Amino acid sequence: MLRFNSNQLTPKQIEKRLAIQHLLSLNESLTTTIGSDVLKGLMQILKTLPSRYFYDDRGSELFEQICDLPEYYVTRTETAILQKCASEIVEITGHCELVELGSGSSTKNRLLLNAYQNLDLPLRYLPIDVSAGILKKSAKQLLFNYPTLEINALVGTYELALQQLPKKQLPSRMIAFIGSTLGNLNSQECEIFLSQITQALHSGEYFLLGIDLQKPKPILEAAYNDSQGITAAFNLNILEHINWLYNGDFNTMQFEHQAFYNETENQIEMHLRSLQKQTVKLSDLNLSVNFASDETIMTEISRKFDLATIKQQLSARGLVTQKVWTDENNWVSLLLCQFD
Ligand code: AVI
Repeated sequence: MLRFNSNQLTPKQIEKRLAIQHLLSLNESLTTTIGSDVLKGLMQILKTLPSRYFYDDRGSELFEQICDLPEYYVTRTETAILQKCASEIVEITGHCELVELGSGSSTKNRLLLNAYQNLDLPLRYLPIDVSAGILKKSAKQLLFNYPTLEINALVGTYELALQQLPKKQLPSRMIAFIGSTLGNLNSQECEIFLSQITQALHSGEYFLLGIDLQKPKPILEAAYNDSQGITAAFNLNILEHINWLYNGDFNTMQFEHQAFYNETENQIEMHLRSLQKQTVKLSDLNLSVNFASDETIMTEISRKFDLATIKQQLSARGLVTQKVWTDENNWVSLLLCQFD
């Protein structure tokens, strides 16, 4: 006989309240050659690797550790802001379903769900993530904790999910993009992303955005050069992930983590510096890459925003800021925008 813990739902109970949709793009699979972004990045004069390759299992684990580091103020500060303003968000948006880009921020989505739950009306949550496993695991726990919650999880990239959001079932909808991930997009990618957001929203619906603000260089550089070396391990892990994916021979002992604030671009840049002249092979991509000593691969940018400028950029797209919440140091902000 099958037995279920008292802190678990039966498969039938889960099935009733959880839909998992796997999004597919025929176009994408026909036009994107596997590894083409890695090839392109490593063949440039200034070498780069796309930061999405940070997040294999170990990378995701290391990122969770980063979020708890004393020097990495971003997660802690944003959570504290959300703790204070979640009920105000709900007052402004009214009864609303929550679409979340990335389902990793479980503490933060719970703060929002708690506030919506106080309305005593049905709750609906649409998390979006490329990992079906992560979505399923967190959905089961949420269904148990929120008895009136229905979840429609979307497995796929943000781009695909924003194009294929299911029809709204509650009076309004809010798309939440918190965690300051917008900073990891360059200005061109950011423009494309915002246009995808506005295409997914209907007039009167909401966009909740978390951003990291400009601040003194020592605070920023400490956040990306922590004393325990977790960020360094996170950065180097991208090479292990690439080795695993493409049968490569990057030796992580021959590269060093580097992170600095570029004051002209207002962005943290993370690089991996080659400690010697060396050649690296990625057999499955038929690629041999030469590195000079001290040559670097840029692995991530993390842009730091000016509040007035981002508000203007959002409003130019029809996303009108209704309210901004900031911590007492003015380090991190949450913006609630309404699409006009
Ligand atoms: C995910 N993202 C918002 C983080 C950031 O701060 O840009 C990624 C990160 N990279 C190093 N530390 C954290």
